[in-house]
Amino acid sequence: MFDNNTSPRSGIIHAERYLNGEASLPPVGRDSEVHSIRDGIRPLTKRDTPETLLIHGPPGTGKTVCVNHVLDALTEETSVKTIRINCWQYSTRPALLTELLIQLGYPAPRKGKPVDELLSKLREWLEKNRSIAVSLDEFDQLRDKTEVAYDLHMLSQQTGNKLGLVMISNLPPDALVLDSRSWSRLNCRPIEFEPYTADQLQQILEKAVEQAFKPGTVDSDVVEAIAEQVAETSGDCREALEQLLQAGRRAMRHGVREVTERDLANGDR
Ligand SMILES: Nc1ncnc2c1ncn2[C@@H]1O[C@H](COP(=O)(O)OP(=O)(O)OP(=O)(O)O)[C@@H](O)[C@H]1O
Ligand SMILES: [Mg+2]
Repeated sequence: MFDNNTSPRSGIIHAERYLNGEASLPPVGRDSEVHSIRDGIRPLTKRDTPETLLIHGPPGTGKTVCVNHVLDALTEETSVKTIRINCWQYSTRPALLTELLIQLGYPAPRKGKPVDELLSKLREWLEKNRSIAVSLDEFDQLRDKTEVAYDLHMLSQQTGNKLGLVMISNLPPDALVLDSRSWSRLNCRPIEFEPYTADQLQQILEKAVEQAFKPGTVDSDVVEAIAEQVAETSGDCREALEQLLQAGRRAMRHGVREVTERDLANGDR
């Protein structure tokens, strides 16, 4: 009954994960942003002080995918340890520092450990081991932004191995409402991700079609129409991929072998 050959989806889409956010393509058309992130954290590979980065821009503009891409390369090509934390999940200073220690291999400490103790364990790890790059995704969801950024910055100034910080936020730096004096000491470099243009979305969607659909099953007008419509309203790549997925599903429900403009939300299928 659940055999793949009887699934109406088996005809067109073969890797839905590239459309629904479960898997990512290597970032398409964000070379200058990727290079800025890479260059900012590169000093870590020589135990030098990296730049503190603040990646910001609206939803679906590729912030997470680009930072992850650089951290993946750092893990594969160097001895720098990489840590990724989502601040929506760990939204207070102790919760975040505890998660950092757990990712470094410490056993989960009991709740309520003082921050100073957590920081001194981190310092101990850095001194004994290697440099670390930490990405704090959804940084705007963190309650103790100034404290955490400052804690980690100060720590790195006291150790031979360094800790590099990459903060990712929807809000621009001046809307983050941080203690301005501590913030200015961080000497943080903002990297802005602008909404995608129609051309950029088209390039990304073409790659997604290659990965997710069987060859020759998506009419190029579909990609162009989605790219233009999304660029006009939001420039959000997540939304463009979702529209492509919905069009593919619609075509399959109708048992056709090619996705055309008729399968778009405003189409006539
Ligand atoms: N340049 C790109 N090339 C390929 N895929 C991309 C690109 N930009 C975004 N995507 C895809 O679009 C989706 C959204 O991207 P991502 O999660 O990086 O956005 P974001 O800027 O972090 O959004 P948010 O602010 O909501 O967290 C993901 O599935 C991602 O793989
Ligand atoms: Mg993100």
